[in-house]
Amino acid sequence: MARIIIAPSILAADFSRLAEEIHSVEAAGADWIHCDIMDGHFVDNISFGPDVVRLVRKETSLPLDVHLMIEHADHYVPRFVKAGANSITVHVEPEAKHDVLETLRKIRDAGCRAGLTLNPETPIEMIEPFVGKFDILLVMTVHPGFGGQPFRADQMEKVRHAANWNEACKHKIDVEVDGGINPETARISIENGANVLVAGTSIFHSDDYAKAIRELRGE
Ligand code: DX5
Ligand code: ZN
Repeated sequence: MARIIIAPSILAADFSRLAEEIHSVEAAGADWIHCDIMDGHFVDNISFGPDVVRLVRKETSLPLDVHLMIEHADHYVPRFVKAGANSITVHVEPEAKHDVLETLRKIRDAGCRAGLTLNPETPIEMIEPFVGKFDILLVMTVHPGFGGQPFRADQMEKVRHAANWNEACKHKIDVEVDGGINPETARISIENGANVLVAGTSIFHSDDYAKAIRELRGE
């Protein structure tokens, strides 16, 4: 089985000590750093933008996995590329107000890995026209906007669907889950075929980041 990638979401970190938090999760065994970008329009919350991603970039050599929960992602992609993103994930819903194919192309052309994601209410069929045009499928296991929400097991059908594409396709994608991931829901996600786990609360609100990350891996 492929190695499980753990991507702590800094949304749950202590921003007054952000650099230290990043060093701590890196030392604790994190594989990627997940940056949740929210604009107050596509989701009902505002987080941070490219300037903070640039600060994160200075603090770690781990891949930065940028999740854009914003309208007009196409317009902002160059700024996140410049800030040091390694992968950029965008939403497929029409409310995200962009040309999905064009945005994915822009991300890949800039040398980043392209991710596509969908809200829990969005059917997996919405993704199908873009198969082959993205490298990561992010299955939201909560409605995006806030950390600390309960995991939605009903989304596992999408994870299985993506894992089946991988069986059939030459171009393998990462299957990532995001929201409500703890040791128990990590196990469920892995069993269904996820290989990248985003976790905010269960890592940054724990006393021992290394233990939290090991537990997510099922170790
Ligand atoms: C939800 C974000 C998630 C969130 C995960 O809108 O995309 O990345 O921060 O946080 P937890 O692990 O706390 O559910
Ligand atoms: Zn996210």
